[in-house]
Amino acid sequence: MNINQKDLLIKSFLCYSTISIAKAIVHDHAVKSMANVPDSIRSRSEELRNLIEYHNHRYYVLDSPEISDAAYDELMRELMRIEEQYPELATDDSPTRRVGAPPLEEFAPMVHRVPLLSMDNAMDPSEVAAFHERTARSLGKDEVVYCCEPKFDGLAIELVYEGGVLTRAGTRGDGSVGEDVTRNVRTIRSVPLRLRTATPPGLIEIRGEVVIFRKDFEELNRRRTASGEAPFANPRNAAAGSLRQLDPAVTASRPLVFFAYGVSERAFLGLDSQYEVLMRLKEMGFRINDDTRRCRSVQEILAFSSFLESKRGELPYEIDGVVIKVDSLADQEALGVKAKSPRWAVAFKFPPSQEFTRLKRIVLQVGRTGVVTPVAELEPVKVGGVTVSRATLHNEDEVRRKDIREGDTVVVQRAGDVIPEVVGPVVSLRPEDAAPFTMPPNCPVCGSALVRDGALHRCPNMSCPAVVKARIFHFASKDAMDIEGLGKKIVEQLVERGLVSGVSDLYRLTKDDLLGLEGFAELSAENLVQAIERSKRRPLERLIFALGIPNVGSVASRDLALAFKGMERFMQAGVQELTSVQGVGEETARAIRDFFENSENVKEITRLFASGVAPAEPAGPRTAGGALAGKSVCFTGTLSSMTRSQAKAMAEAHGARVLDGVSKNLDYLVAGKDPGSKVDKARSLGVEIIDEDRFLNMIQEA
Ligand code: IVH
Repeated sequence: MNINQKDLLIKSFLCYSTISIAKAIVHDHAVKSMANVPDSIRSRSEELRNLIEYHNHRYYVLDSPEISDAAYDELMRELMRIEEQYPELATDDSPTRRVGAPPLEEFAPMVHRVPLLSMDNAMDPSEVAAFHERTARSLGKDEVVYCCEPKFDGLAIELVYEGGVLTRAGTRGDGSVGEDVTRNVRTIRSVPLRLRTATPPGLIEIRGEVVIFRKDFEELNRRRTASGEAPFANPRNAAAGSLRQLDPAVTASRPLVFFAYGVSERAFLGLDSQYEVLMRLKEMGFRINDDTRRCRSVQEILAFSSFLESKRGELPYEIDGVVIKVDSLADQEALGVKAKSPRWAVAFKFPPSQEFTRLKRIVLQVGRTGVVTPVAELEPVKVGGVTVSRATLHNEDEVRRKDIREGDTVVVQRAGDVIPEVVGPVVSLRPEDAAPFTMPPNCPVCGSALVRDGALHRCPNMSCPAVVKARIFHFASKDAMDIEGLGKKIVEQLVERGLVSGVSDLYRLTKDDLLGLEGFAELSAENLVQAIERSKRRPLERLIFALGIPNVGSVASRDLALAFKGMERFMQAGVQELTSVQGVGEETARAIRDFFENSENVKEITRLFASGVAPAEPAGPRTAGGALAGKSVCFTGTLSSMTRSQAKAMAEAHGARVLDGVSKNLDYLVAGKDPGSKVDKARSLGVEIIDEDRFLNMIQEA
């Protein structure tokens, strides 16, 4: 390979994400074969796309999946394999593109053909009535029909579809020019890449809101505070922050959801009313809020608004009011727009869900990884219809940043579903003796000296009763080993009576042990023993999640299970091998290593297996096919044309497993400049040693 070819190869590699890498590298080869995609492959890829988008729609739009995650993954893998081989099939509307394109330096501007307007607010019922009177007068009608919709509290975006295919997406910006976030929006599963219609309009601009569900927002903040990052203030900021990421892979990792609420121009769909537009958008594959109602009077509007407000806490995402739109599109046109807002709509906002209350005490809660979290005990107060008496304060730095003190009157807001937030103190009402918060030096439960770990404080004693209880509770929880009936109260008793001190002890529990506990009878004890027994066969991903390794959530657990397929291989994986798993970063990889370097953890896992825990192996490899499929590769020395991590990603993209060290099972040692002792070891073990050029050639030849 000459220098230019290699340069091109490297450049094209650097320009594409892991999945696109393969496509870029074999591009040359593919161009030649462009016309040669066999019909059977072309139609299979089309069929797979349709199947995948169908199941995406079932899962992300209708909340009603028809197939298992594993079956879905298998469809996706098959399509990825085909597209790797025939890159011209990997067009932008392929579901494989949802994983995220390469990072950008900055967003390009996106000019909106029809500006995105803002909306006037109605602050109270009398302003709603005034809006109606103005509207009726202008239209010369006694009765006006309104389409009333929830007002999403997220980030407005516009999606452009040409010939039914998503071609561009932009944020609202100043209404005329926003930011082009197309590549990020493609990662949002509830955004159809193609409209679900046989007769798509030549052009259609769809508007709606990107939101993040409260539970996902909470999880995101938990992860952020655990890694010392500042939490997002509310789900809207989290949605905006996640969408405006220069690296689409980051957006892809955030569970954003898109709701459609309109089109830029009436002519696109040839319909008569806003309500029909929403129904058509739904048919075309978009998620809409089904709590949308036609109202024929101010009274009906206010009743609907009260209904929505009472339902507000039950919705998985935030809404902050009702949007009242004149339903007839012809009437909308007749009413027209003012400078920045239309005359045909108004937003009737709910009162904010913030309240004042007194912070009685700051207590400390010890979690399953030993993290000690300050929690505010509050004078109970109703916020947005829910009584709040406790709120996490995340960590010492957060408490100090907000300067929250015991005895303060504080503002409490419900930004999340269950866990509300203390926004800050009302300093003018602070008692004179209120002292700034400091973390005590010792664990409040076992007395061990706390250890500072970034923004967090940890109890280092893994036998601390609080840690043990939390760990066992997590192990048994629904997303982990799913041991039905093993709730908090039972775990507390089991630990306090010395029946259980580690998760493996659960598998030794007998019916008689349980009968000695409060609240157990013959049948309930038998049921719990059986539930514990059943949990032995949970899939590997659940076991990994159940171990409670810091930073390893259920998504990472799944990726790890798929990549390693067995506990033993996972336990032995080095940092490099771990970070080669999609979605596993350096920090998580280190946390995994630290976890397995602790011999207590390894012993506990050994005991689990000895008690009969035998997780089911996940189906299918993550990367099948590819030039290096099934081969293991190790890199040593300095490479001249790429960094080590780029080389690693490249090898992974072609199906190789990248190993940290040289063993007799290694297929290739790729040696750069100044390679060191690995070369000697490889030689002595008879492992093939290749140089950088050969490695790149192998990939291109494929
Ligand atoms: S319609 C002028 N419908 O509210 C009417 N907007 O002030 C165009 N919003 O940030 C917007 N939910 O993103 C419309 N159901 C809904 C909405 C909605 C939330 C947001 C919109 C924009 C703001 C307009």
